[in-house]
Amino acid sequence: MKAAVIGHPINHSKSPLIHQYWLKKYDLSGSYEAIDIAPENLKAGVQTLIDQGYNGFNVTVPHKQAIMDLCDDVDSNAQKIGAVNTVVIKEGKLLGRNTDAYGFIQNIKQNAPQFDLKNKDVLILGAGGAAKAVAFGLAQEGVRKIIISNRTKEKAQALKNISPLITVIDWDEKQAAIEQVDMVVNATSLGMVGKPPLDISTSFLKKSALVTDIVYTPLITDLLKTEQQGDNLYVTGIGMLLHQARPAFEAWTGILPEVDDELQRLVLA
Ligand SMILES: NC(=O)c1ccc[n+]([C@@H]2O[C@H](COP(=O)([O-])OP(=O)(O)OC[C@H]3O[C@@H](n4cnc5c(N)ncnc54)[C@H](OP(=O)(O)O)[C@@H]3O)[C@@H](O)[C@H]2O)c1
Repeated sequence: MKAAVIGHPINHSKSPLIHQYWLKKYDLSGSYEAIDIAPENLKAGVQTLIDQGYNGFNVTVPHKQAIMDLCDDVDSNAQKIGAVNTVVIKEGKLLGRNTDAYGFIQNIKQNAPQFDLKNKDVLILGAGGAAKAVAFGLAQEGVRKIIISNRTKEKAQALKNISPLITVIDWDEKQAAIEQVDMVVNATSLGMVGKPPLDISTSFLKKSALVTDIVYTPLITDLLKTEQQGDNLYVTGIGMLLHQARPAFEAWTGILPEVDDELQRLVLA
């Protein structure tokens, strides 16, 4: 395997840790590094990767949309989500995919296996790139209703093309909605280190409801702290990051790797 993650900046990326861990675990030879490519150099930078015989690369901020124009083929999931985070290079051609929705869903399945997503009503807070993948993943899993609340309402309205299950409410209606739903997802950047907290209370959640935050720095966000002390099921965001990497590794090596405790510890250290 000869792969990389491209972005700008890129030194924060955990992807090298994850893929290098799996290369070692499955006793494979190969390399995976982080490569900084500025937006104005994207086309030339990608051509260099093709010329150097890379099997593919992951794509992070700010290239997730721009890379789509350079791909020879973009799969239907990535088209619907409007972003590519994984590129497979085959015979010099770039095949674009999005594995964030898969990562989000697999994280829930691994860490709350007793929670069946079918026919559930879900509240998603946020309408950025990550929220699109979350909404797409949930729609694929057969949830009943997806309610989206975002500070900028127009951005939430734009997500409606992802699924007819989506309805949009105002940002200040989110507190009332929380009490009606079976699952709450924070897909905003609120609650992340250096950002303001997410200002909501989960005190009146249904007892059977699940709460998840895709922010994973800190691992236990303020939103999840309440659940940690209460009875509701909760899932942290780190597993989404780990699971989204699996299909890429599989595409490049033929092995669908496992997310285990040691990997999680390594990435959180
Ligand atoms: N666990 C994972 O694998 C994973 C994967 C991807 C992303 N993430 C995390 O998810 C978060 C969102 O990522 P993204 O790529 O979707 O970012 P993004 O496209 O920049 O979207 C940011 C979202 O946060 C909202 N927001 C930001 N500041 C706000 C504020 N002060 N008040 C209310 N809403 C605010 C934005 O609302 P507006 O539309 O109104 O600006 C938007 O909905 C980030 O923290 C990122 O690290 C985690």
